[in-house]
Amino acid sequence: MCGIVGAVGSRNITPVLVEGLKRLEYRGYDSCGVAVLQDGALRRSRSTQRVAELDAQTAEDGINSTLGIAHTRWATHGAPAVHNAHPHFSHGPGADAATAKPGRVALVHNGIIENHEQLRAELQAKGYVFLSQTDTEVIAHLIDQLYDGDLFAAVKAATLRLTGAYAIAVFHRDEPQRVIGARYGSPLILGVGGADASERFLASDAMALAGVTDQIVYLEEGDVVDLQPGRHWIEHRLADGSYQRMEADQRPVRTVTAHSGAVELGPYRHYMQKEIFEQPRAIADTLEGVEAITPTLFGADAAAVFGQIDRVLILACGTSYYSGSSAKYWLESIAKIPTQVEIASEYRYRDSVPDPRTLVVTISQSGETADTIAALKHARSLGMEQTLTICNVSTSAMVRECKLHYVTRAGTEIGVASTKAFTTQLAALFLLTLTLAKLRGNLSAEQEAGHIKAMRHLPAALQAVLALEPQVVAWAEAFARKDNALFLGRGLHYPIALEGALKLKEISYIHAEAYPAGELKHGPLALVTAEMPVVVVAPHDALLEKLKSNMQEVKARGGELYVCADADTHIQAEPGIHVIRLPEHYGALSAILHVVPLQLLAYHTACAKGTDVDKPRNLAKSVTVE
Ligand code: M6R
Repeated sequence: MCGIVGAVGSRNITPVLVEGLKRLEYRGYDSCGVAVLQDGALRRSRSTQRVAELDAQTAEDGINSTLGIAHTRWATHGAPAVHNAHPHFSHGPGADAATAKPGRVALVHNGIIENHEQLRAELQAKGYVFLSQTDTEVIAHLIDQLYDGDLFAAVKAATLRLTGAYAIAVFHRDEPQRVIGARYGSPLILGVGGADASERFLASDAMALAGVTDQIVYLEEGDVVDLQPGRHWIEHRLADGSYQRMEADQRPVRTVTAHSGAVELGPYRHYMQKEIFEQPRAIADTLEGVEAITPTLFGADAAAVFGQIDRVLILACGTSYYSGSSAKYWLESIAKIPTQVEIASEYRYRDSVPDPRTLVVTISQSGETADTIAALKHARSLGMEQTLTICNVSTSAMVRECKLHYVTRAGTEIGVASTKAFTTQLAALFLLTLTLAKLRGNLSAEQEAGHIKAMRHLPAALQAVLALEPQVVAWAEAFARKDNALFLGRGLHYPIALEGALKLKEISYIHAEAYPAGELKHGPLALVTAEMPVVVVAPHDALLEKLKSNMQEVKARGGELYVCADADTHIQAEPGIHVIRLPEHYGALSAILHVVPLQLLAYHTACAKGTDVDKPRNLAKSVTVE
């Protein structure tokens, strides 16, 4: 989703801005732009091409300055087009839309301004000229209108008028050494020091500044920051609308290692492929140091928190929702704790029946997903104070907002289609299951030792599944010629089927649906013809015989079955039944292995179709707006 970079220093910072945008490309975008203050005037380059093209364009346009802002835009209000691309300039009263002379304020924005229509009408009545369809342009005009010689004061006043979510970076023509940032509901960080100690930066995440500075200040909701060479100043908005200065210990500078190496592709064709193959390492890192099952895995206060709960509520979106859906099976069968899993964007707006003795668990790769954060806040507002997040980014909003956390160590995930984040979430959720089971007297020492042994062996088991890639490639060639696909699973593996279908539709654009196999005859069987490939997740578990009957229902209607079967199921290939044989059944952790061939199937089908695997159309990596 949208990415922001801002900088002020004493050298030409244009390369820093463009490099920052390149590092944010993984978030997904459809246009990009850079604006600087050069020779006393606002100048910008904008493009609907990739950042590499913008880079060339800035050189051609001679963009060069010690101060500037930059942006990658993922369209919400207004089509992906150059005139809607950020940075936006204010165009004050008297400006002529046809000639569109740059005004005094340049601004980039991430988030959604909900009262933009009302503000637009108000500003138009005052003579402001709008050149885009974005909600963002109103902020530039509003700051321009409120400006009275002090940009910091104008930004503070303007943010009081905004409803919705924003992270902004802004500069003014008449203040050549100053960039102002503000955040509410969208992430923004401050970077300190660069080529020399006096440089200051803004960015959507620390990754944008990798290679420039590792000295990071995490801005809080309601913060406004003033960046000037050699100094920065943060004020925080209080409930009454007044602002309070934040001292250095209230917004400490932290050393953050945002691995720039993680963005290197190495020998792989795409990040998604790299990330699929990183899963053995990611799981090993996530489980590193787990010698025994203990609440302290989730934080020092975990024993106290877990002692105050009788049920679990999981909130998440997309792939993270599916890991939560799998965990429900574990939590109820192993820990014997009632568990509810909710799509965050639904939960936040529906009337529900809260129970204060609930452990609210958010699951998120990024830790910045707007719907999940809002659902968490909603749960808290209903009196459910015991919160835990399973998240891949230790510095994210989600980790900061929750009492307890387990940080997965998947490493930076660049591909929009989540893979290693999913399997590491499952590993963390399994640890949570075992911890709650042990606390509730549902885990014997022998069972604990057995599960730990199985977790230790997981990386090797994953390697064995990854070795099946050539067989998946053969399937993918057939799938690339299809328009639809059906995925079936049962029990714990039904959410794995859902995840497989999501992966396929997300990157290959093939319509895919997943069903619990027992549900087939209640409707979706009507779709089955020879043209409909049906993928079956077939572990050797208690439901195997039921699943085999469901497969017969498909075969009898001429459907083509593609079965990922545990070796000990003894399901044989025959006409109409293609089989990829996984290792023998892996017990409770089987779901972590069974998702891998489905990830590979989506990946190779997308490659065969020639789609943009890592940046699928219309999607963003980090969904920081509602
Ligand atoms: O960062 P999060 O885990 O909170 O993101 C949630 C979803 O947006 C994400 O899983 C999305 O569904 C992925 N593109 C799926 O591959």
